[in-house]
Amino acid sequence: MIVIKSGAELAKLRRSNVLVAQILAALRQACVAGATTYDLERLALERVEGAGARAAFKGYRGYPACLCTSINEEVVHGIPSPRRRLREGDIVSIDLGVLLDGYYGDSAITVAIGPVGAEARRLLEATERALYAGIEAARPGNRLSDISHQIQHCAEAYGFSVVRDFVGHGIGTQLHEEPQLPNYGAPGRGPKLAPGMVLAIEPMVNQGGPEVEVLEDHWTAVTCDRKLSAHFEHSVAITENGPWILSRLESPDRAMELEAEAGGSLADARSIGASLQRAP
Ligand code: MF3
Ligand code: CO
Repeated sequence: MIVIKSGAELAKLRRSNVLVAQILAALRQACVAGATTYDLERLALERVEGAGARAAFKGYRGYPACLCTSINEEVVHGIPSPRRRLREGDIVSIDLGVLLDGYYGDSAITVAIGPVGAEARRLLEATERALYAGIEAARPGNRLSDISHQIQHCAEAYGFSVVRDFVGHGIGTQLHEEPQLPNYGAPGRGPKLAPGMVLAIEPMVNQGGPEVEVLEDHWTAVTCDRKLSAHFEHSVAITENGPWILSRLESPDRAMELEAEAGGSLADARSIGASLQRAP
């Protein structure tokens, strides 16, 4: 069953996801050559706990950290370590989930460390565009696989491939709710999208083939061909006015205004949705 969220619940999901977005913005600034992925982990944990939230991934099925930090050929679920140092030319995917006031936030970005190669830049562009192509399809009347199809179409138009082994998901009072959301597939399948559904849309796009394998640490997923992989994720509410990207800060000030509005009357989370539709 796909849970339909009330306006009050969407307001809480917005707060959780704004927190995630603010912390990801700080982490982006901290992504410099010489920093370790454990430096990022410490910064994130401090900010999560400072906000009175909980790190959603820590302890999830035994996952040991607050962040997933996945460098270059690592696809997802890289474990932060004081021995993993970022170097110029790397790309690093940072995934963060929080639990605040009973509701989860979940979002991911991939960041370039200093100047990176043209292929890496194209991969980041393709993956973020694929995410936004999927978000555009997250509107009432469409079906779930319309999102999947748009993501795949966009990524493959660049000559890249989408990972099959991990999927997006519903999100709310659980980190992973129904439905599962593959990043590939034919359009027009699956449940009809309706206002109040909230989806974490998270394409993982590979420079080479789509195949991945999990390393001996039982977590880190890497590309089988060891070519690059990127990951972008937003938590998105479906509203009558279209997609509302809960984990996106337009600007810090605007985000605070929106929060105030959402906290007040919930008429509406929905009209707020309309003002947040535009993709970059
Ligand atoms: N964004 C990913 C997901 O929704 C990150 C999960 S990491 C884990 O599944 F450790 F919690 F599994
Ligand atoms: Co997720």
